[in-house]
Amino acid sequence: MKRMLSGIKPTGQLTLGNYIGALRNFVKYQDEYEMYVFIANLHCITEYQDPEDLSRNLTDAVALYMACGLDPNKSTIFLQTDVPAHAELGYIMACNTYLGELNRMTQFKDKTANGEKNMTAGLYTYPCLMAADILLYNADYVPVGEDQKQHVELTRDLAQRFNNKYGDTFVVPEPLIAKVGGRVMSLSDPHKKMSKSEETNKGCIYLLDDIKAARKKIMGAVTDSVGIIQLDKENQPGLYNLIEIASSLSERSMEDIAEEFKDQGYGKLKGYVADVVCAELEKIQNRYNEIIVSHQLEAVMKDGAEKASVIANKTLDDVKKKIGLEIKY
Ligand code: AMP
Ligand code: TRP
Repeated sequence: MKRMLSGIKPTGQLTLGNYIGALRNFVKYQDEYEMYVFIANLHCITEYQDPEDLSRNLTDAVALYMACGLDPNKSTIFLQTDVPAHAELGYIMACNTYLGELNRMTQFKDKTANGEKNMTAGLYTYPCLMAADILLYNADYVPVGEDQKQHVELTRDLAQRFNNKYGDTFVVPEPLIAKVGGRVMSLSDPHKKMSKSEETNKGCIYLLDDIKAARKKIMGAVTDSVGIIQLDKENQPGLYNLIEIASSLSERSMEDIAEEFKDQGYGKLKGYVADVVCAELEKIQNRYNEIIVSHQLEAVMKDGAEKASVIANKTLDDVKKKIGLEIKY
């Protein structure tokens, strides 16, 4: 069975973008692949987080993983810091990464271009840790949203470089990006990614949003003045995004949805999208509430950490030996 691994960095509440671009796909894949999904808590602290908020977001993220359908009997779910090998291989990877490679990472470049101050060294070397996350498990595939593709590509380069230098060690992973829903856009600005770091909350739907509030955000989504329902991503990006959201949640094609609402106006279409999204949110939230009261998280995380450690420690030992980090007695 091929192995798959992915992680989410819960620096805030999980969003509909996380669900459509990533989480939902993990659930689909868990039957076909040996699946490892982790909560990337070390990645969260590359920028300051209020400790209480961070801790609550981590708990919510695990519960939401399961509420979205990740089954701990099928997938290994764990917390990054429960497997210390991540930090250790992250450092080793950083020693095998060139500054030029990190300077080219678009997430870093965007932040620099936006004049962001007080950027940390951790933020800069983040892609090295992400490479370690993936390579420790010798994952064949990494299902991620479009924005993470570049990081997985760097991981491939680092794996190949290491293999060339020290002999065959790592599986070279491939990114897997969903054809529909790989990049869910903000409802208030369809040129921007739907993101939990958005300043106003209007453009972003959170998985734990109040259902009425979520409906209101969709009904108020920015569209255009063209007045015709059709699939024109360039000129009607807001409308396109709404149809894409509904399509990815309903298993209906975008063409089919556009055709049905062709003569019905934007309000009707938005109402339909809101129905689809709210039904999905309700399902997730009901399960989330059941999971929180069932107190099963601790056992799931302990079990996940144990399973993950076995594989991660084996890879790390091999790496250390190959590099010559061990004393031979
Ligand atoms: P993050 O929340 O940045 O840790 O992202 C976790 C996963 O969700 C990654 O695979 C991202 O690519 C994916 N993701 C985040 N936001 C979106 C979005 N707006 N559309 C699609 N995928 C997303
Ligand atoms: N960098 C990813 C994000 O921001 C999260 C992440 C960390 C990840 N390590 C990973 C995703 C390993 C896939 C594989 O979304």
